[in-house]
Amino acid sequence: MKYSIAIVDDEALIRDALDITLSDQYDLYLFETAESFLAAIERTVPDLVLMDIGLPLMTGIEALEIVKQKHSDLPVIMITAYEDINMVIQSMKIGAFDFVLKPLNPDILELTIKKAVASIALIKEVKILQEKYLQENHPCFIGESKNIENVMDFIHMVSKSADTPIMILGETGTGKELIAKAIHARSPVFKGPFIAVNCSAFPEDLIESELFGYESGAFSGASKQGKKGFIEASDGGTLFLDEVADLSLAGQAKLLRFLENGEFYKIGGTKKYTVQTRVVSATNKKIEALVNAEKFRKDLYFRLCVIKAEIPSLNERKEDILPLAKHFLHEFNQKFSKTIKGFSEAAADHLMSYEFTGNARELKNMIERAVLISKTDLLELDKLKGVSTSFKDRNAANISPYSDLGPEGINLSQLLENTEKKFMEQALSLSKGNESKAARLLQMNHHTFRYRWKKISNK
Ligand SMILES: Nc1ncnc2c1ncn2[C@@H]1O[C@H](COP(=O)(O)OP(=O)(O)OP(=O)(O)O)[C@@H](O)[C@H]1O
Ligand SMILES: [Mg+2]
Repeated sequence: MKYSIAIVDDEALIRDALDITLSDQYDLYLFETAESFLAAIERTVPDLVLMDIGLPLMTGIEALEIVKQKHSDLPVIMITAYEDINMVIQSMKIGAFDFVLKPLNPDILELTIKKAVASIALIKEVKILQEKYLQENHPCFIGESKNIENVMDFIHMVSKSADTPIMILGETGTGKELIAKAIHARSPVFKGPFIAVNCSAFPEDLIESELFGYESGAFSGASKQGKKGFIEASDGGTLFLDEVADLSLAGQAKLLRFLENGEFYKIGGTKKYTVQTRVVSATNKKIEALVNAEKFRKDLYFRLCVIKAEIPSLNERKEDILPLAKHFLHEFNQKFSKTIKGFSEAAADHLMSYEFTGNARELKNMIERAVLISKTDLLELDKLKGVSTSFKDRNAANISPYSDLGPEGINLSQLLENTEKKFMEQALSLSKGNESKAARLLQMNHHTFRYRWKKISNK
């Protein structure tokens, strides 16, 4: 396969010279102006560009800027005269691959082009690998609304750098963790580890050793071999700090030190460790308010929040409800070996007008339960409404065992009691009131059944 090179130079002599030297090995496209070149790449993008800096109308630098916005991977070699050296520096900053000086030295030119071609091959190889990886591992982030499209465009853009810290904000269940995984999968470190740490899941005195690890014998009870922390485990990949706003002030100070230079010490150790990792953090709290209230360090906030992505709530993007519902329906059809084809009109209307407080997670739980109990071809309204999953109702009598635990918690004993009662009622109904038979259906001892039933049914 021949690589294609676009040559943009207003001097006919240069174009002719390049044509003679390069046309054997490459497919060449010659342009006199930046404008004609830019119009042409709207249709076909070459593998490589050789561009003169001093073009008559639009300069090579201006054209380079435009090219890089759309085709950040396309290598552009700048051609320049000596006196343009400041321009060279400027173009390298914009993202030029390299530059060659006029008068052109054929050997240097050949070497520079070979270098660029090698880099194209590598970029292509990585792209193919990444596409394959995305197909196999990438969690599907569903969304058709303009709001989500904007978030996704932004994610594509920011994923490209391997180390810029990103903070994801959004209400509970909006898909922050899913977005973090998408950023990892699209980043240059996609083959490295994705380590998720829930900062609120560890007590204050443990989070430090979980994040940074400890050396052997660091404290009484510490394991002999010492321990690798999450940060070390994420070397060469992505560290996802979930619920980062819940990190204690001591934990925040240590994390800040690490973010400043990528270095840290394990607890009880003097050896310095260096780790290369992209930090993605997330919270459903109003973190700016916590910063103002001095509960979250401002300096750490700015470190973590170099780029900020806000995911709108599901109520703010109603167009996503049905595509998401269908996606979850498909997922649970597979999980429960069902073949439900879609939603009845009334069920779809209900979903569209429902006020979600737990966002996509709430919708997912709703669909999971509805699929589980549905016996019809289409999901009917009563199955969706069957048990309310509204997070407002979590502690009401009808909480569901299929809901995930949210930050507001649940009344577990109430939940267990409801479940027990429901199955006892069904067992009694199936055995037509015969308590011994009902007890057998639930694999319970007859006496236990009677005792529990009396207690529960009298409540
Ligand atoms: N756009 C989406 N497409 C497909 N699945 C989604 C989408 N958004 C959320 N989900 C699913 O909803 C559930 C909740 O998402 P996730 O855990 O990423 O939310 P979160 O924002 O991290 O919530 P929390 O703040 O409570 O931790 C997950 O099972 C996720 O797969
Ligand atoms: Mg989460």
